[in-house]
Amino acid sequence: MKSIVVANWKMNPASFKEAKKLFEAAKKAAEKSPNVSLIVAPPAIFLRELAGGYRGKKLSFVVQNAHAEAKGAFTGEISIAQAHDAGASYVLVGHSERRAAGETNDDTRKKTSAAISARMTPILCIGEEKRAALGEHFSFVRDQLRAGFADVPPARVSRVIVAYEPVWAIGSETTMKPRDMHEMAIFIRKTIIDMYGEVGHAVRILYGAAVTDENAPAMMREGDVRGLLVGHVSTNAERFAALINSISKA
Ligand code: PGA
Repeated sequence: MKSIVVANWKMNPASFKEAKKLFEAAKKAAEKSPNVSLIVAPPAIFLRELAGGYRGKKLSFVVQNAHAEAKGAFTGEISIAQAHDAGASYVLVGHSERRAAGETNDDTRKKTSAAISARMTPILCIGEEKRAALGEHFSFVRDQLRAGFADVPPARVSRVIVAYEPVWAIGSETTMKPRDMHEMAIFIRKTIIDMYGEVGHAVRILYGAAVTDENAPAMMREGDVRGLLVGHVSTNAERFAALINSISKA
């Protein structure tokens, strides 16, 4: 089974020229790694040109955000259909930086189901802001999951990808312990199975936050995850190539 790696460039780099260079480097690294499937999340303004210039099958594209409505007076937004038309086949939903800017669980519900209806694959991002001694982070994550999945028809559940990203680790160099991720993966799966039954086993779970070439192999081995969502390291061509390489050898 291939490992999924999502490269979330966030609001980087500054020019299309740099984006193209970064993309070429990521593509090269992915092409050398038969057991890695790469999904690139460039800023939406670079998407069409990057996707249009790519002919292979090794990688695909994801938008960092899209609006749940199909069209209308939503200045500054892009729709899921527009993202699809530009070359994306995945939609990131509810990234913590979007949630920090005001996106709610109810928004993620609408976006996840809109992505499914548009035949796109939603990557639902969840994760607590801090860990609490009494385990409150589990109920926080459960609420995010229940809301995000609320309008997904049972027959489509296996299409959704869940990216668990502990917000307290995002942007740093240290991931949570793979053992703790393993525990969280079991909890996420159980929550989905409680909602939908056995089909919940098919949902792919990713880990994100502070993933580097040094910690990626252990997370893949011991974290009970299908792949990784990579932020800042994905905007450094050399470090990202080392990361892809480290997983393909693991
Ligand atoms: P990071 O970001 O890899 O820089 O921690 C991950 C994310 O926010 O998706």
